[in-house]
Amino acid sequence: MFEKRASADHPICDLLARRWSTRAFTERSVEREILVSLFEAARWAPSSGNGQPWSYLVATKDNPAEHERMASVLTPGNAWAHKAPVLALSVATLHRVDKPNRTAHHDLGLANENLVIQAVFMGLAVHMMAGFHVDMAREAFEIPANHDPVAMMAIGYPGDPESLPEDLRAKDLAPRHRKLIREFVFSGKFGQPAGLE
Ligand SMILES: Cc1cc2nc3c(=O)[nH]c(=O)nc-3n(C[C@H](O)[C@H](O)[C@H](O)COP(=O)(O)O)c2cc1C
Repeated sequence: MFEKRASADHPICDLLARRWSTRAFTERSVEREILVSLFEAARWAPSSGNGQPWSYLVATKDNPAEHERMASVLTPGNAWAHKAPVLALSVATLHRVDKPNRTAHHDLGLANENLVIQAVFMGLAVHMMAGFHVDMAREAFEIPANHDPVAMMAIGYPGDPESLPEDLRAKDLAPRHRKLIREFVFSGKFGQPAGLE
């Protein structure tokens, strides 16, 4: 299997190091019990006041019409994701009782990352996507007004980037870059490196 491990400057756990956003998926469908485990992992994410402000819409290739309907809300730049056997849309619940939930997107992100890391653990890959038509998704899936469609996911067993068309292959094979710790971990005041490196 093609690996694109994080070139971490300091030790991190293996699952985090192995996760990356491939565009290449095999045609193997994702077994129902595996898919359920991904959402079980999302379920156990922490959230402010245990508000659990997340929902998911999911479509698998076992139901081609539904999978196609979900794929149709993706932007053309994410056309590669039509091949992923599972597509999902994560949705944030913006209100808790009658108050806005300031951490809704944050907490949805935690649930999403739980799902992603569980997927890596089970030998799958997940590629998150903001590139979709939000209004189209809202209408197609009848998402109520106090819910925000945030990110879609392509889920499946990782394939070989060599099998991708040239432009996508180049993206999948390109080196990964990250800011340095001193560029985002501060002490005393914003922008002042904490010296943790
Ligand atoms: C919320 C979110 C939205 C993203 N949207 C897209 C997208 O629409 N299309 C895409 O190809 N990648 C998308 N990505 C993947 C990022 O480009 C990718 O995570 C980033 O380049 C770092 O690469 P890595 O995940 O392989 O470490 C998205 C990632 C996140 C977390």
